[in-house]
Order: sequence, then C-alpha cells, then structure tokens
Amino acid sequence: EEEKKHHWFVGSIDQGTTSSRFLIFNGEGDPVASHQREFENLYPRSGWHEHDPLELLRSVEQCIEEAMRKFIDLGHSKSDLRSIGITNQRETTVVWDSTTGEPLHNAIVWPDTRTKALVRELKSRESADTLAEICGLPLSTYPSSVKLLWLLQNIDSVKQAYEEGRLAFGTVDSWLIYKLNGGAKAGKPVHVTDSTNASRTMFMNLHTLQYDDKLLGFFGIDKAKIHLPKIVPSSDSEAFGKVASGTLINVPIAGCLGDQSSALVGQCGFSAGQAKNTYGTGCFLLYNVGTEPVISKYGLLATVAYDFGGSKKPVYALEGSIAVAGSGVKFLMNNLGFADQSSEITALAESVPDNGGVVFVTAFSGLFAPYWIDDAKGTLCKPPFSPQPSATFTNAPSVGVTQHTTKAHIARATLEATCYQTRAILEAMEKDSNHKLESLAVDGGLSNSDLCMQTQADISGIPINRPGMRETTALGAAIAAGLATGVWRALEDLNEVNKNGRKVFEPQMERAKAEKMFKKWGQAVEMSRGWVN
Ligand code: G3P
Repeated sequence: EEEKKHHWFVGSIDQGTTSSRFLIFNGEGDPVASHQREFENLYPRSGWHEHDPLELLRSVEQCIEEAMRKFIDLGHSKSDLRSIGITNQRETTVVWDSTTGEPLHNAIVWPDTRTKALVRELKSRESADTLAEICGLPLSTYPSSVKLLWLLQNIDSVKQAYEEGRLAFGTVDSWLIYKLNGGAKAGKPVHVTDSTNASRTMFMNLHTLQYDDKLLGFFGIDKAKIHLPKIVPSSDSEAFGKVASGTLINVPIAGCLGDQSSALVGQCGFSAGQAKNTYGTGCFLLYNVGTEPVISKYGLLATVAYDFGGSKKPVYALEGSIAVAGSGVKFLMNNLGFADQSSEITALAESVPDNGGVVFVTAFSGLFAPYWIDDAKGTLCKPPFSPQPSATFTNAPSVGVTQHTTKAHIARATLEATCYQTRAILEAMEKDSNHKLESLAVDGGLSNSDLCMQTQADISGIPINRPGMRETTALGAAIAAGLATGVWRALEDLNEVNKNGRKVFEPQMERAKAEKMFKKWGQAVEMSRGWVN
C-alpha cells in the first residue's frame, strides 16, 4: 500500500472569475498536468457582471478532459487519481430549477453592484447592524444574499420557481458539484456546499456553521420554499459525491473550498498568525485567527478559513477583500488598449521610475475592505469640479493627470492601487488582532510581477514571501481532497509541500517616502467617493 501510495495523484478544479483550470498534483504537491480555459465575462449594464452557468460548467469539463489527456500521455492512468477537489470564485450566485437542473438566470458575479440601492434599503432596516456578529460579514453588494434577493425581486421565473418550491440556490461550488454528479438526472441529486463557501452567503451562522433563521428571516427567505445546499466540512470522502460522466467517471469529489480559503491551505497557513495575500482578479488577504472567529471592528470580514471535519475544529480567518487587482490590468488591456498581455503592462510600469504623481483608485465595483464605499467610482485624476462639494475637496492633494502622464505611469498606478489597499488592510488587521504581521505570503497572477511585489514590500514595510509554485489555490483543494482519501494522513505530511523556489522581497524604499505615497492614496480614496450615477 505504501509503495502504491507513492504514485497517487489528486486533481483540482479551480473555477475562478476569468478562467477555469484543472490541475493534477502528485503526493509532493507538484503539478504534473494542467489545462486552463477562459470564458466570457458579461457586463450587460454599468455595474452588472454575469457568467453563464452552463459555460462555467463546460469550461471545467473541457479542462478536465484536456489535462487528463496530458496526464495519460505522461504514462499515468485514471486509476492513479485518488480523488478531486473543487475550489471556486466565492459569493457568485447561481439559481436553477430543481426539477430540470437548468439555470434560471445568468450567475450574478461577486463584484456586481446592481444591488446598491437594495443594500441601502436593507441597511436602514431594524437589526441590520447586528448581522455581522452572526455571519461575520457587513451588509454590502458583495455577499450572495443580496444577489439572491435581487433575483427574487426582479426575475419572474426565479420568483415563480420559489413560490412553487422548485428554486435551487448555490454558489459556484454547489452548482458544479450538482452538475458533475449528474444534476437533476442523478438518482439522488447532490446539493451541498462547504462551510468556507457558505460563510460568504450571509445565511450561515459562523459559530454553528449552519443556516441561521435570524439571517434568513432578515432577507425574507423562507427555508421551506427554497433548496439551499447542505453545509458540510471542506474535506470529506462522501459528501460531495462522484463524477458521473467523462474521463473522470466514478472519481470521488472529496474536497471543496472557496478559492481564498484554498490558497491559505495551499500556502500551508495552518497556524494562527499566518497570512496570505492572493493577487487574482481581485486580491484577498486572509489571516488565520485560529479556532474562534474574530468579528472585525475595522472593516474586515470574519470567515471560515477551512474546516477539515471529523474531530478537527474549524479554523477561522480575518479577511481583507480588494475587488480589483488583475481586473485592473485587464481594464488597461481590454478597455484602454494599453497592451495585449498582462506581462506587457508590468513591463510598461517598470519603464518609469515612479507613478509621476498619478494615483488610480480602481474602484470599479465601489471600494471593498477596509473602506466599504459602495458608491466610489474609479478615480484617476483630480476631478475638475467637486461632484458633491465637501470639505474633503477643498484641500485637494497633488495627485492627478498632467501633460507629463504616460501609459506607463497609469500602469504603475494600477499596480500600486492593490498594494495601497493591502497596506490599509494590514493596518486594520493589526488593530483587530493586536498583532503585527512580520511577513506576508503571496500568490496569484499579479504576484508574478517582481515590481508589484517589491512595491508591496515598500508600501507595507514588511517582507513579501513568494513561493516557487504559485498554483496555491488549486493545491489547497487538492490537499482537502487528498486528506479525505488517504493521500496525506495529517497536516504534518504536508511539511515539505511547496517549500522550493521561494523569493523574499525586502522593503527597500525610505519609510518617509512610502508614508507620503500612502497618504496621497488616502486622499485619492476620499476623492473617489460620492459620484452620482
Ligand atoms: O470573493 C471573490 C473571490 O473568491 C474571487 O477570486 O481569484 O477569481 O479573484 P478570484
């Protein structure tokens, strides 16, 4: 058995905001085969952001088939794969008909801000400010609850399915697990979610890890009328079922984690006090606080970090969520035509010694942590007039576009925006936890940019620690699945995983200069507020 174990592999579906992947890891945590596919992001109106749930599923299935072909070409066989895990973009809300298994609407994607007015109304309701104590999240356009409520209020077919008891709700993990198991055609449809994903809906009690009647009641959701996914631990050999068709037929799905939780697991951030920052479409800093949740007073979220079930207690995190990171780079490429490749954007940014006085508050979906300004808009320059005359604008700082400004400055300012927000999150985290972080582990697409990581070290004043293997999000779900199916018996078996090729970026900038830059950022944030639609 030990000898055989040496050849065991675990697969991982990583369904993100702009692409899907399937990776196969060996027992050392190294990827041996993979495939990635982009799919369409739909922006039907300003502030709206949708995905076609069937296209998400197709992209995942295609990645599985392609990666498995590569795996088998390497001389391995399907039976070497013990199980697969799933990790996914969080909060994105899918609704489908439980009788047919077909979607009732496009998925509403996490940064979508169509619920702005709804959120304002919800905030004025009695007990609105007591919700965070239960679920860890403040009311904003971000969680799934408000997205579901919008669908119920605005889409007749969704409302009708709800009234008739046919409405199934889920985040992307639930949708994929349901469909991979055969959907409505399966003898017993599998409709589950794990507690990390459920902790992003605003329906789950963070302390009991079950749906909470007060939360459901606040949003007017009647449990009897809707099929909510059953909440289970993130690592389990049975709860997530088995793949029902394709090359992976009968392979168990044994792990499930929201992508940011998964990255923390993939970084092996298993001890309280460890933190990671993932620079993907957005950027998300998770700080492991141990086995008791910490409800933030400074604009962070409390969330489930991971929950390996059995006798192991769930582990919680404080999270700082930044809505725009890689999507800012995509904006420069797709909307402004700055370049065709993201690497060209970082090269552009590297071509100038500094931002030339430009600060870009990339608030395309309002501003998330720690600010939570729903009505902030992307702000690149000093506005020519104050949209809402206020004291803030009388001392407008010297940030702004001039004849001196080039694409390179704007590219640099775009990268810097994520670094400033990370610094603001670190300050909030320090206040909430009474602990100063000594270094920050990083991963995700933009962490490939040395300039971005050096800037992060400079702005935040702490070393930035980047692993050699940066598919940590996918690795986390593979770890959850592998722990449930005997590839690894305990966390100690993971001690050697992902230790090679690390690079540490030490702060080099003079502190006074970094402080001045950060102060200007703060002023620019004030300028991004209150734009009228
Ligand atoms: O909360 C949203 C997050 O899970 C999306 O992650 O990697 O697609 O930016 P990503």
